[in-house]
Amino acid sequence: EIRQEVEKLIGRMSVADKIGQMSQIGASDFSFGADVDSEPPESMVASGKAGSILGAFDSKRVFELQKIAVEQSPHRIPLLFNADVIHGFQTIFPVPLAWSCSWDLEGIKQACAIAAKEASASGTTYNHGPMVDISRDPRWGRVVEGAGEDPYLGALIAKAQVEGFQGDSLFDRETIIACLKHFIAYGAAEGGRDYNTVDISEGTLRNVFLPPFKAGIEAGAGSVMNAFNIYQGVPVAGNSYLLKDLLRDELGFDGIVISDYGAIEEIFIHGAAKDGEDASKLALYATMDIEMVTRLFATHLPALIEKGLVKEEQLDEAVRRILTYKFKIGIMDDPFRYVRPEKEMEYHFHPEHLEASRELARKSVVLLKNDGILPLRKEGNTLALIGPFAASKDLLGPWQFSRYGLETATLKQGVADKVSDADRLLVAAGCGVDSEIDGGFERAVACAKQADVVVLALGEDSNMSGEAASRTNIELPSVQLRLAEEIVKLGKPTVLVLTNGRPLVLDWFEQNVGAIVETWFLGSEAGRAIADVLFGDYNPSGRLTMSFPRHAGQVPIYYNHFNTGRPVTPENRHMKFISKYLDCPNEPLYPFGYGLSYTKFDYSDFRLDKTVLARGDSLIASVTVTNAGDAAGEETVQMYIRDLHGSVVRPVKELKGFRKIVLQPGESRTVSFAVSEEDLKFYGPDGSFQAEAGSFRLFAGPNSRDTLEAEFELV
Ligand code: IFM
Repeated sequence: EIRQEVEKLIGRMSVADKIGQMSQIGASDFSFGADVDSEPPESMVASGKAGSILGAFDSKRVFELQKIAVEQSPHRIPLLFNADVIHGFQTIFPVPLAWSCSWDLEGIKQACAIAAKEASASGTTYNHGPMVDISRDPRWGRVVEGAGEDPYLGALIAKAQVEGFQGDSLFDRETIIACLKHFIAYGAAEGGRDYNTVDISEGTLRNVFLPPFKAGIEAGAGSVMNAFNIYQGVPVAGNSYLLKDLLRDELGFDGIVISDYGAIEEIFIHGAAKDGEDASKLALYATMDIEMVTRLFATHLPALIEKGLVKEEQLDEAVRRILTYKFKIGIMDDPFRYVRPEKEMEYHFHPEHLEASRELARKSVVLLKNDGILPLRKEGNTLALIGPFAASKDLLGPWQFSRYGLETATLKQGVADKVSDADRLLVAAGCGVDSEIDGGFERAVACAKQADVVVLALGEDSNMSGEAASRTNIELPSVQLRLAEEIVKLGKPTVLVLTNGRPLVLDWFEQNVGAIVETWFLGSEAGRAIADVLFGDYNPSGRLTMSFPRHAGQVPIYYNHFNTGRPVTPENRHMKFISKYLDCPNEPLYPFGYGLSYTKFDYSDFRLDKTVLARGDSLIASVTVTNAGDAAGEETVQMYIRDLHGSVVRPVKELKGFRKIVLQPGESRTVSFAVSEEDLKFYGPDGSFQAEAGSFRLFAGPNSRDTLEAEFELV
């Protein structure tokens, strides 16, 4: 029925009307500074020059523009309202890199469902998320928006996010269309510099960067956004191999492809088109449906059709996909169904949403080091909270637009709620994030001198990661390092609490402080969630989803690398002609999957029920995990494989399963993983996706480094 309605409508539309549907414009209250709309949105909508709006954000603005669309535009077609709802709408959840460290798929799905509920009540119907790019280079600021370096976990998290945003049905008024971005390989930007050249193999494209997109498409994502980069010399926005052959024909994606902001024009700037007209043609041939905010389609498509270089049917295909989604979400019959001011009031920053945010925030914290100083005592200690994040509200991270920023729970608030004697909590910023404060060091040192325990709250501000926020130096800003040195000199037990959007180089801290707590940007309830962990009301369970280098010179650094012909081993590491650095180990400081708890988990008895696996059959790998400490705790039991020999080299380890278990002190549990041919498949050089017969190694452990192993053959 939808199909017939769509065809009827298309039959009545002019070329200009069709291009209008394929054009997104910015709402007046939102722009990235680019002066692309020469006309106010109101008149563009009235004349049918826009089919979707970016960044309207509240129901009042959505209502105004939708009213114009359905009362004045040529075919009265309602608008889609797009926004970047990356980690919450008004209630802010941990940044995606943080929540990926929870390895809690249900928690992540719930966060996205809450974000969709809040956003849809304000009229947003179409999300510019989730971001599912694999990130291997912490210099790249956008690592904060994704799920880290692993394709297997990344795929599961992509699926959870799509399911959270879209719910069971897009017709449901509390869901929004999910858009998988940025297709594809954006995270491979050379040097970690945003928008930079990407030059990777087809094998890496398919085996590393593709899985999260594939999983998101299988979960039913309604949209995909192109990446800014080139692939094999062709910008993705105009790359027919990627968008048409791979995404549509091979993966079967029939939803909307939207350009990233300016990406069609950039085909020309990259040098892959001779002008804007040529760029528009390439994008259309690649099956791009919507142009985000810039106006190349509007400017060039009419002439291209006139010259016979583009067929009107190509526009029809794009418009068909766009209108289909307008029908699917119910706005064709009921254009104002998402405009619900009463629900905005009810849902935004709802206490239950805040509770869910705090819960996911606690699970996202990763304890990197603990010499026993944590958890802190609530009584009998004088505590100095020192550093620019001691009382900062800049804990929401990039890509959030909440009106409730001032209600963010600070670390100071969270700690004050825990300690029995507020007079024994001393607070001093010491310095700004990247600047000195007059007399700041002196005051901080004076506080620390009076304390039994010092908590150093250091980090990056929210502008130091995210889009266009790459860094070459991935240490803390130097003023904070100097502050830390002054404090550490005092010899007090010291805990480092980090707020940041990327893996940092922490070698000095690993050697000089008693505990390191990675909190990322935890969102609206950050301070309370951190305090839950610091004082032991929550036993930390987060596990890293990106490796932490010892030195910036090691990046890109990731656990699932290839072997080289001269791999370093404990025995040969002092020899000359080995693949190693002269001045630094190859290994990261903290590997993928790593994270500590206030208890200790022992692994033993890793065994396989068979050592020969036939295709079509499966084997069971089991490992016994024991809580050898004296606190209850949650462990993430991880299972990796290695394909030892093949027609092409395979990574030294690849995550293929994990299980989260809660163990009481002294309790043991056997965790089993089924392994089948499916888990061993990869894209080979001929494009086939298959497993090759031969030897495999399986690993089980608490992280990608400290594993037990066993071998089997696939026959
Ligand atoms: O969605 C984003 C994208 O990730 C980067 N460029 C701007 C877009 C705005 O919505």
